[in-house]
Amino acid sequence: MKLRECDVLWNKKVSSGYFHMGVEVGDAFKAARAGQFVMIKTTGEGETLLRRPFSIHDVREDEGRLVLELLYKVVGPNTGVYAKLKPGHSVSVLGPLGNAFTLPEKGAKSFLVGGGIGIAPMLFLGRQLVEAGHDPSCHTVFIGGRSKEDVLSAEVFRGMGLTVVETTDDGSLGEKGRITVPLERFYEKEKPSLVYACGPHPMLVGVAQLMEGRDALCELSLEIIMACGMGACMGCVVDGRDAEHPYHHVCIDGPVFDAKNLNM
Ligand SMILES: Cc1cc2nc3c(=O)[nH]c(=O)nc-3n(C[C@H](O)[C@H](O)[C@H](O)COP(=O)(O)OP(=O)(O)OC[C@H]3O[C@@H](n4cnc5c(N)ncnc54)[C@H](O)[C@@H]3O)c2cc1C
Ligand code: FES
Repeated sequence: MKLRECDVLWNKKVSSGYFHMGVEVGDAFKAARAGQFVMIKTTGEGETLLRRPFSIHDVREDEGRLVLELLYKVVGPNTGVYAKLKPGHSVSVLGPLGNAFTLPEKGAKSFLVGGGIGIAPMLFLGRQLVEAGHDPSCHTVFIGGRSKEDVLSAEVFRGMGLTVVETTDDGSLGEKGRITVPLERFYEKEKPSLVYACGPHPMLVGVAQLMEGRDALCELSLEIIMACGMGACMGCVVDGRDAEHPYHHVCIDGPVFDAKNLNM
């Protein structure tokens, strides 16, 4: 884990209320793994007081620089400040933090499920699978959103050769309804070994219920409210399932959990 002042390289609006930012990071990110996150704070004029957690959306080499990509939704004061950042500004980045998704064996099938901004960590996961030599056709991405503006990154996944299934609550893109509907249908047909999900709590509950009693490992990445980000407060506690682990800190025990270990 490293704390570093990083230059903003670009910061673009990609959909209504959603932004995609690239910042130059140091070599510590060469070892970053899909599922991990960073804590961000702006510095200088318009400095934000508290760090906020964001999934690693991607890490890529670009013209000799290592670039950390973040995909974020403007929901409050901090993300409101981020949306105004331009090249020449800098942000303070703490990370990579937390644990990572379990990668499947080569040849095994997996489903990557993202609801709204919950798609953010799935792109890095898809990239790691492809770069590790996995057959892209073994991996299917399910992207759900309220409306078509909330369905992000679909073309990037398709460009990587992954199959993409989209749903929207209002039917403006893909199948109308909840993402768990095609997820169940595809599960019965494909029988993947792993199902990864990140998104709003009700979606994660739906995915966990769907996977209960089924063979696949189901890993959930929890995007809950965090304060310190390092185990020092109780700001991020979630209920565990057994007496030995009655609760978990999302910041240091997660953010990725086996659904079997959570009491949702
Ligand atoms: C491990 C992890 C990874 C995350 N990755 C991403 C990411 O890749 N992209 C992204 O956009 N966001 C991500 N988040 C959520 C992000 O941290 C919050 O949206 C951000 O902290 C909001 O900051 P703010 O000051 O703008 O808004 P705040 O003032 O903190 O919040 C504004 C409103 O949003 C609500 N809120 C804040 N955070 C959350 C949350 N996590 N879930 C539900 N409601 C919330 C608050 O209750 C409040 O009503 C992640 C969270 C975690 C824990
Ligand atoms: S955010 Fe403080 S303990 Fe996790």
